[in-house]
Amino acid sequence: MNHNKPIEIVDNIFFIGAFDPDIRTFDIIMKTANGSSYNAYLIKTEEGVIIVDTVKLEYQNEFFAKIEQLCSYDEIKYVISHHLEPDHAGAIPELIKRASQAKVLISPQATPMLKAITDKDDIDFESVWTNKTLTLGSKTIKFLTTPYLHWPETMSSYVVEDRLLFSGDVFGSHYYDKRLFDDLVGDFSYSFKYYYDHIMRPFKTYVLNALKLYDKLDINIIATLHGPIIREKPYKYIELYRKWSLDRPDNISSNNKIISIFYLTSYKNTRDMAESIFDGAESVKTIRASLYDLASIEEQNMINILEESDGILIGTPTINADAPKPVWDLLSCMMYLEKKGKTGHSFGSYGWSGEAPKMILDRMKSLHFRVPPMESMKIRLIPTKDELKNCYNFGREFAEIVNGKMIEIDMN
Ligand SMILES: Cc1cc2nc3c(=O)[nH]c(=O)nc-3n(C[C@H](O)[C@H](O)[C@H](O)COP(=O)(O)O)c2cc1C
Ligand SMILES: [Fe+2]
Ligand SMILES: [Fe+2]
Repeated sequence: MNHNKPIEIVDNIFFIGAFDPDIRTFDIIMKTANGSSYNAYLIKTEEGVIIVDTVKLEYQNEFFAKIEQLCSYDEIKYVISHHLEPDHAGAIPELIKRASQAKVLISPQATPMLKAITDKDDIDFESVWTNKTLTLGSKTIKFLTTPYLHWPETMSSYVVEDRLLFSGDVFGSHYYDKRLFDDLVGDFSYSFKYYYDHIMRPFKTYVLNALKLYDKLDINIIATLHGPIIREKPYKYIELYRKWSLDRPDNISSNNKIISIFYLTSYKNTRDMAESIFDGAESVKTIRASLYDLASIEEQNMINILEESDGILIGTPTINADAPKPVWDLLSCMMYLEKKGKTGHSFGSYGWSGEAPKMILDRMKSLHFRVPPMESMKIRLIPTKDELKNCYNFGREFAEIVNGKMIEIDMN
């Protein structure tokens, strides 16, 4: 199959995107063993043409060559941009130069971004949102407000006649395969899940909101912005997003609250504290607490445990006036997760200055954890029996708060 030809995906809707088989790292955070694609589309009607998203700047020649095989620039009436990240908006500045009569359709949140990426104040654009509709010739496009998937301005749209969902990055995969359609490409399931985990999981509440809008539609084909176009089993992929966004561990009922206690220890002092805190937390009936030694836990496991936790307690000794690296590494995993609603606190043994638990607590606050107004539990060197009792009480108090005990929390 030739990379340089548009591909008709349904009646008069063409793939005009670009393939990037050689990319190996995407957005710094993702490994892309199979390369990727920047999917863009062209809708042809009797009354003119609509361009749906563009490609990365380096690939714009390929994109424009495909457009030129289908229409002239003065036939383009609208440019719909679902997402202004550079992998999809790279060719917008040149496109609006070439198709200067075209109107750009974006979400309201995209307005300042559009100006920032084009360095122009006089762009002909209009904001669109759920319930707004565009009709051009025989195509009717309904817009859907689906913010934070995965930028604030992201949106989706639906072509009524073809039951086709333009989902933006949602349901995307970094998986180059020129056969393009899910029923023709190789096994891209790992890449579909990996994309969800890295790009969509931090916004899973927004995923569920978008699914509420998608649920009102009858979807035959999903034209995503990366990787295979999904036409064989669209609902299989929709249900995977739902399942992943709702996931709880199989063995713990939704009536239980999960508290995960992570610790690091050199002489078992912080570990002894962690165990008493665990006992205190477990003394609250609905709490299911678990202990994890940060010295030997894989990153993917950390992410999964953090994900399912309602409460997170981090125990760290102070080493050279800091918390050791594995403790910071744990919190850096929060980048992949939704922070809203998680309650957090810290504790640890120390020798003389003991600044680590407070540093960790400050980091939790800046990550928007819900931090109850109690002091971090700090103990000098080896905890005594009484101090371990204090740890127990600290664990119990924290657990009661996770369990819903009313307290005043300053979220700033
Ligand atoms: C290399 C090293 C550096 C340390 N630096 C500090 C420090 O800067 N401030 C402090 O309060 N304690 C410091 N300590 C003391 C530890 O925090 C203390 O021994 C603590 O009880 C260790 O707890 P753990 O057994 O849970 O690791 C240091 C200990 C070591 C071994
Ligand atoms: Fe994106
Ligand atoms: Fe993207």
